[in-house]
Amino acid sequence: MNKIINPAVRTRNITYAVRDIILIANEVAKTGKEMLYLNIGDPNLFDFAPPAHLVEATYKAMLNNFNGYSPSSGIKPALDSIAKEAEKKNIRNIQDIFVTTGASEAIDICLTALVNEGENVLTPTPGYPLYTAIQSKLQNVENPYYLDEENDWQPDLDDIRSKINDKTRAIIIINPNNPTGSNCCKDTLQELIKIAQDHNLVIFADEIYDKLLFEGGKHISIASLNSETPIITFGGLSKNYMVPGFRIGWGIVSGNRMILKDYIEAINKLLRARLSANHPEQYGIPPALEGDQSHLEIANKKLTSRRNMTVEMLNDIPGITCVKPEGAFYAFPKLHINTSDDIFVAELIKETGVVVVPGSGFGQRPDTNHFRVVFLPPEEILMKAYKKIAAFTGKFIEEHEAVGK
Ligand SMILES: Cc1ncc(COP(=O)(O)O)c(C=O)c1O
Repeated sequence: MNKIINPAVRTRNITYAVRDIILIANEVAKTGKEMLYLNIGDPNLFDFAPPAHLVEATYKAMLNNFNGYSPSSGIKPALDSIAKEAEKKNIRNIQDIFVTTGASEAIDICLTALVNEGENVLTPTPGYPLYTAIQSKLQNVENPYYLDEENDWQPDLDDIRSKINDKTRAIIIINPNNPTGSNCCKDTLQELIKIAQDHNLVIFADEIYDKLLFEGGKHISIASLNSETPIITFGGLSKNYMVPGFRIGWGIVSGNRMILKDYIEAINKLLRARLSANHPEQYGIPPALEGDQSHLEIANKKLTSRRNMTVEMLNDIPGITCVKPEGAFYAFPKLHINTSDDIFVAELIKETGVVVVPGSGFGQRPDTNHFRVVFLPPEEILMKAYKKIAAFTGKFIEEHEAVGK
């Protein structure tokens, strides 16, 4: 037994920068340097907590021994609650709802049930890297479309139109977006529906951050704009309700029943094959969605002031510009440098202990460089981190050829 075990080719292109960057950070932390982590989107690491009633409902379910498997689509009270939530979002013509182990599993199952090897899915760039990882696993052909930084990171509709071919099966919209924090406007969403209808595409609408919006910003569910187009809306408890460790998410399938019926059956085959999502945690869904929502007001107030500080301080740094995020807890500032953001970020971590994620981990237009900041930490940590980024960037630009702001 001395031969190397070769991993499957399908894993070759899988990267997950958000976690990969930790390897560099861990090495630096070992030297005793003070670390400032602005890289992981987990509200629980900072001064955010879930509403107690959803934790209590889960605990009670465990004590009541709802610790076996649940029905494959999820328990009825949770499904009813998600249906009510979908109605509040004005999603009509709902054909199916299922609870999954995080929105991540819903995304995986829905892509797996739809896309064959060699086909492609229009994928927002920059965007959440899970989508490219799953497509890599499915041996799909990459088909990134760009978000337009000059237009507050809205999807570039011309780019989307130019990239559709006869093997394109779906279009993904992350709204609000990770990593840019942008919130899609109604006109763009309507155009996306038109494009999907013209080319027979399924729309995957990732709305996991739909309640984290600043200054009274309104979120529009794309599925609320058309009841015939096949759309799967992804949601969950991880971000809006601050329990990412519960691993509870869901998918809501809406649109024309006749068009969708075989696809829904394929999704349900996969749901049955993996038995069920986490069971006791599903009892947290009704109290979360239907109970007191005051934690959101508190969270959005904190996030608004942290967002404002982020945008102001980063835009004050020569060599960095930052579009104002409207939701979620991410900003995606642009680095006006010639060197790659991978090098910039690796050196930043080593010199300052400030951990951010390079833009390359989310995809970006060629010849542009960015990094992603998570602005969940309290102001004093953010201020310290941005001061360190400012001093480091000045030095970095002096040492490397700068393009200029
Ligand atoms: C856009 C987006 N979709 C999905 C997820 C995963 O959500 P979950 O924790 O429900 O699996 C994340 C997590 O960061 C995300 O940013």
